[in-house]
Amino acid sequence: MIDKISIPLASDFHIHTRQDALMEMVVPRIIEGGVSLCYVMPNLTPPITTTEQALSYRAQLQSLAPNVTFLMSLYLNPELTPEEIKKAKSQGIIGVKSYPRGVTTNSDSGIENYEVYYPVFRAMEEVGMILNLHGEIPSDPEKDICVLNAEEKFLVHLQQLHQDFPKLKIVLEHATTKASVEKVKSLGDTVGCTITIHHLQLIVDDWAGKCHNFCKPVAKFPHDRQALRDIILEGHPRFFLGTDSAPHPAHLKECAQSCAGVFTTPLTLPYLATILDSFGAIDKLRGFACENGKKFYGIKDDESKIHEITLVKQKLSVPESYSFGNFSVTRQSFVVPFWAGKDLTWKIEN
Ligand code: NCD
Ligand code: DOR
Ligand code: ZN
Ligand code: ZN
Repeated sequence: MIDKISIPLASDFHIHTRQDALMEMVVPRIIEGGVSLCYVMPNLTPPITTTEQALSYRAQLQSLAPNVTFLMSLYLNPELTPEEIKKAKSQGIIGVKSYPRGVTTNSDSGIENYEVYYPVFRAMEEVGMILNLHGEIPSDPEKDICVLNAEEKFLVHLQQLHQDFPKLKIVLEHATTKASVEKVKSLGDTVGCTITIHHLQLIVDDWAGKCHNFCKPVAKFPHDRQALRDIILEGHPRFFLGTDSAPHPAHLKECAQSCAGVFTTPLTLPYLATILDSFGAIDKLRGFACENGKKFYGIKDDESKIHEITLVKQKLSVPESYSFGNFSVTRQSFVVPFWAGKDLTWKIEN
C-alpha cells in the first residue's frame, strides 16, 4: 500500500480566483492546496476582455501570491479582434475562454454559430493561443435540451471546430460525461480536456437538493463518473487537472436560485489524492495533476520554482467554512468548501 508520495507542486488549469475580499481569501490558499501554477478564468464582473484588464488582474493576483505562476485568459466576445489576439499573445496571455452564452450576439441560434469568431480563431491558431470551451449548449425545452444532455449535445461543435482549425489547441473544460471522454480521445493531439476534482466524486443524486454540490456542468450518471475515473486510470496524456474551483458566499448557494460552483482550492491535492486513492489511481496523481497539462500547454518548467511536496496518508478534516471580508451578515462572509466537515485520507506533510 502506498502511504506517502512526493510530487512537484501541481498545476490547476482552470480556476476562478474572483475579486475583492473573496479574491484576497482565495488566492493565498492556492499554494496551501499544493498548486504553484494556475490558469485563471476571465469571468469577472466585468469580464476580462482586453489585454490591459488581464495584465492588471494578474498583477493583483501576483501580489497576493508571489510564488504562484498565473496564466491568463480572455473572455470570448464579439468585440474581440485578431489584432487584440496578437497583442494578447505578445503580452503573455495564453488563451481565450468561450462561455455558452458568449456566442449569442450576431447569431440567431446561440452557441450553434461559432462562425462569427472564425477570424479570431484563425489568429489564435496562427499565434498559438489556446481555445478553452465551456462545452454546454443552452437549455432548450423545445429541443429536449437540459442540463443533463447539454454537454453531450455540444460535442458536435467541438468536433467541427477541431476539423476547421486542426492546429488550434482546444481544451474541453470540466468534462462530465463518458461521451466527452470518448470524443476527446477520438480527436487529434491538439484537443485536450480538463477534469475537476468534484466531478470525479459527484453524481446527480449528490447535487439534487444539495446546494453545495451544485455546479455547471452538473455532475451526471455513475457511468459518466466511471468514464472520468477510467481515463485517469489509463494515464491518458491529454486529460489533466482543472479544478473549476468556483467559490460563492454561503448565502448565494443556500437559497432558492443557488449559484453554480464548488470550492476546492485550499485543499486541492488532499482532495484529489483522497479521491484518486479511493479508486486505485494514486499512482496517476503526478501525471494528471503535475505533468499532462503543462505538456499539452507547452509550458516549460521554471527550474527555480519547482518544489517537491510530500503527501501522506493521514486523516485531515475539511473545515466547515472559510471566512472572508468583513460583512455584518455572517453567511455573506463565508464560503462553504467541498465536503465541508468530512475527513480526507491524505494530507500535505508539513
Ligand atoms: C457560465 C455561463 O456563463 O453560462 N458561468 C459563468 O460564466 N459564471 C456557466 C454557468 O454557470 O452556467
Ligand atoms: O460551476 C461553475 N461555476 N461553473 C462555471 O462554469 C462557472 C463557475 C463560476 O464562475 O461560478
Ligand atoms: Zn466553464
Ligand atoms: Zn469554470
